[in-house]
Amino acid sequence: MPVTVWTVDPYQPDPTIIRQAAEIVKSGRIVAFPTETVYGLGGNALDSTAVERIYAIKGRPAENPLIVHVADEGMLDQVAADWPPLARQLSEHFWPGPLTIVVPRAAALPVNVTAGGSTVAIRCPKHIVAQALLRAAGVPIAAPSANRSGQLSPTLASHVLSSLGEEIDALIDGGACPGGLESTVVDVSGPKVRLLRPGLIRREQLEAEVGPIEVVGTSSETGALPSPGMLARHYAPRTALETAETVEEAEFLAKLYETAGLKVARLSITGDPDLVAAQLYAQLHELDSRGYDRIIVTLPPESDTWLAIRDRLLRAATTE
Ligand code: TXA
Ligand code: MG
Repeated sequence: MPVTVWTVDPYQPDPTIIRQAAEIVKSGRIVAFPTETVYGLGGNALDSTAVERIYAIKGRPAENPLIVHVADEGMLDQVAADWPPLARQLSEHFWPGPLTIVVPRAAALPVNVTAGGSTVAIRCPKHIVAQALLRAAGVPIAAPSANRSGQLSPTLASHVLSSLGEEIDALIDGGACPGGLESTVVDVSGPKVRLLRPGLIRREQLEAEVGPIEVVGTSSETGALPSPGMLARHYAPRTALETAETVEEAEFLAKLYETAGLKVARLSITGDPDLVAAQLYAQLHELDSRGYDRIIVTLPPESDTWLAIRDRLLRAATTE
């Protein structure tokens, strides 16, 4: 059946459309919707069959758990067994917003949401459309990014349609996602805050609230993955992507491939990190559609402000 696409004003979505989309969620079907980070592929988190379908649509490995979205802290009881003081401190400061907090899971939550694990990742989104959908549905919504597993996350409705169009039941088109990069994921199920995935909320912003945090998962020296989604290759365009630390190195690589007759696209990451984040995936999606053989990206410097962007680009480039 063709997917239903609703176009809404991201600041004032039509309540009738939101109600229809909420009905779809409540009936166990799947709706893609915009958030302040990227588009999510949403289903009722309390319905294991809906959750099962999310994994199937994405082609996501069963061992990679989903993020559960809540409208506010009032929904936490249905999802979390406990909301420790560190979680409260973070949610009071950063919610609604692009911070995902990992805590012990509620016993009643379907096991497939957390991929059988004892913890659950929870996020309260700020985007008006996501908020409206959660409130109208009245249930927590499990929503990974609305792309096929391993590929680039979608920041426009058209990205969702070209990746998953045939398989979802409905899509709310709320225009471009303003943040453009996924949420920061932190684990507070232990005594200290651990950063599992860098994202739109920066480490220094977190540390200003809760003191020093441990950064894990941005490298993979040990075999154990702190977050199952930390598989090396991820967030990748279809076109082979290579990174360079300097303009000279990028130049060298580009020349090398061009001499070999390949069509090479160049992308240099500089300027304001927030603006770059907002555009990055859209730029990569665009380059991906133009038939290049290689995309050569000059990386931004290694610093906290660029941590999430470097992380995504290095993962996009990993070939093993
Ligand atoms: O910005 C975002 O977070 C977007 C929007 C739609 O909210 N969602 C998103 O979901 O990026 P997804 O599924 O593509 O990424 C979720 C990440 C994965 O790296 C996953 O492994 C990790 O969160 N994760 C989920 N549950 C976890 C848990 N219990 N413990 C550790 N990591 C977890
Ligand atoms: Mg994803």
